[in-house]
Amino acid sequence: MTLIFATNNENKVKEFRSLLGDECKIITLLEAGIDIDIPEPHDTLEANAREKSVTIHRMTAQNCFAEDTGLEIAALNGAPGVLSARYAGEQKLAADNIAKVLEEMATVADRSAQFRTVISLILDGKEYQFEGISKGQISTELKGGKGFGYDPIFIPEGATRSFAEMDLTEKNQYSHRARAFKEFVAFLKTIPV
Ligand code: IMP
Repeated sequence: MTLIFATNNENKVKEFRSLLGDECKIITLLEAGIDIDIPEPHDTLEANAREKSVTIHRMTAQNCFAEDTGLEIAALNGAPGVLSARYAGEQKLAADNIAKVLEEMATVADRSAQFRTVISLILDGKEYQFEGISKGQISTELKGGKGFGYDPIFIPEGATRSFAEMDLTEKNQYSHRARAFKEFVAFLKTIPV
């Protein structure tokens, strides 16, 4: 099975491909010759993931999927959540987003948070969604230079190091995206080819 992955984020593509077996082949927007920055106008991860997959399905009429991820911090009432990419402004800069979170958390004792990923798959014109959650803690300072986004300040439950201190194989043991992807692949395996 071949699926278009409706993203321009190379890090997400890398993570998905690192988890992929023979079940399906992923084609990126770039590889599909599509140059578009799909808007994320909604107030839930579910609706934004659907917006992206439906947009690409309308353009290509091909099976495709998209995902939307948010960092949900308990002490900030679930923020940055669906606004994670733009938390510190429309430039979507990870360093600025992290600085804003650390500043808002400067005097906060409860550092619990979770990453949540929602995948929206459009298969033969029908939509299916899959969710993955990674619970953990927001560190008090940046740690590590790998990964992307908020990885340097997120320490997943069961680990002592941040996502940015882990290689991909280790991050996949804990990550929201890997967990959502597992559900997604389990579903694909039930589809007759
Ligand atoms: P989006 O799903 O591309 O809208 O991403 C939302 C925000 O969360 C962006 O700022 C991403 O950099 C960040 N983000 C998404 N996935 C991860 C992750 O696995 N680790 C750290 N940050 C992430």
